[in-house]
Amino acid sequence: MKRVALLGATGSIGRQAIEIVEAHPGLELCAAASGSASLDDVDAPLKQVGGDLTELLERAQPDVALNAVVGFAGIHATLWALEHGVDLALANKESLVAAGELALAAQARGGGRILPVDSEHSALYQCLQGTSPDQVASLVLTGSGGPFRGRARDELTAVTPEEALAHPTWRMGRKITIDSATLANKGLELIEAHFLFGVPYDRIEVVLQPTSVVHSLVRFRDGAALAHIGNPDMRVPISYALTFPERAAVPVAALDLTSLTLQFEAPDVETFPMLRLAREAGEAGGTAPCVFNAANEVAVAAFLDGRLPFLAIAEVVESALERSEHAPARDLDELLDADRSARALADERLAVA
Ligand SMILES: NC(=O)c1ccc[n+]([C@@H]2O[C@H](COP(=O)([O-])OP(=O)(O)OC[C@H]3O[C@@H](n4cnc5c(N)ncnc54)[C@H](OP(=O)(O)O)[C@@H]3O)[C@@H](O)[C@H]2O)c1
Repeated sequence: MKRVALLGATGSIGRQAIEIVEAHPGLELCAAASGSASLDDVDAPLKQVGGDLTELLERAQPDVALNAVVGFAGIHATLWALEHGVDLALANKESLVAAGELALAAQARGGGRILPVDSEHSALYQCLQGTSPDQVASLVLTGSGGPFRGRARDELTAVTPEEALAHPTWRMGRKITIDSATLANKGLELIEAHFLFGVPYDRIEVVLQPTSVVHSLVRFRDGAALAHIGNPDMRVPISYALTFPERAAVPVAALDLTSLTLQFEAPDVETFPMLRLAREAGEAGGTAPCVFNAANEVAVAAFLDGRLPFLAIAEVVESALERSEHAPARDLDELLDADRSARALADERLAVA
């Protein structure tokens, strides 16, 4: 029996994870946490609403921690799992993006495995099974392009949160859905892929595949490319991460290959500058990805509250990156400082937006 601690149990990933755990005789929920929503309908021996997630993990001593918290709030749980050698099923990409080198150092000390839950990274992880790093030429992250793909900048000046929340292929939490509309999500995933797979940024491409059927690809040095394809359904990567290396059955519809037409296109980084900013932050290294993430969280919350226009999200993030120092964080305290300072810079920029 594999004991799963589920952090973010009331969210989009959390709910689907409960479905996977309940359907699998080899999995049991040993703990569940939310930020503020009730966990009354969740069946777990340990439950916690708000508070310190690492205390819950200490008490639960899980075999796998599924971090499905949204945002930087998931950082302590990610580091705890890596430091304690506990398998980390990682949906909370923001923590790996922000903590980067610190997370890898914790993993090296503790020996915890990271099993990606993000569908693109799960796809890459699966395509990379049985290969060595020197065989890999590049990684190709795919994205749907979000609800505004194909639009020009002047068509985005007045878009509302409701329009941005209407994602064409995935039903997800609000923050990641806005990130998908700005392409910040693909930017976070680019940095996440760099840290997960140790591939330099100039060998990680991003292409759009509007129906989200191709979940990502690995190009190998012999010219072959392996793609992971299937209907877009987060239960597949959640199940893979929780049952690895078993690959349990999941009740998803088989892909109808005879009606499939695949289109790919380059992302428009002029209209959607968040992808360019993420790449620059990743390449700058140090705390730049943490700043990118923090300023984005502040800007997205302001957009969702109707306090910031859609196009100004990138302006807030760019300004925070320009005004921050990107020295590496030597420990968690320095990282928390970098996160706080970036949020303050983003708040200042909001005041004049
Ligand atoms: N949804 C997807 O399909 C998808 C796909 C790939 C990756 N991801 C990633 O998965 C993560 C979760 O996304 P989501 O779409 O599931 O978000 P969501 O629906 O907004 O759910 C977020 C969850 O995090 C909890 N939470 C927030 N702050 C917390 C805190 N301080 N302590 C404990 N729990 C806290 C929330 O609890 P409350 O309900 O109490 O607020 C909720 O359970 C994100 O990092 C996202 O980028 C999601």
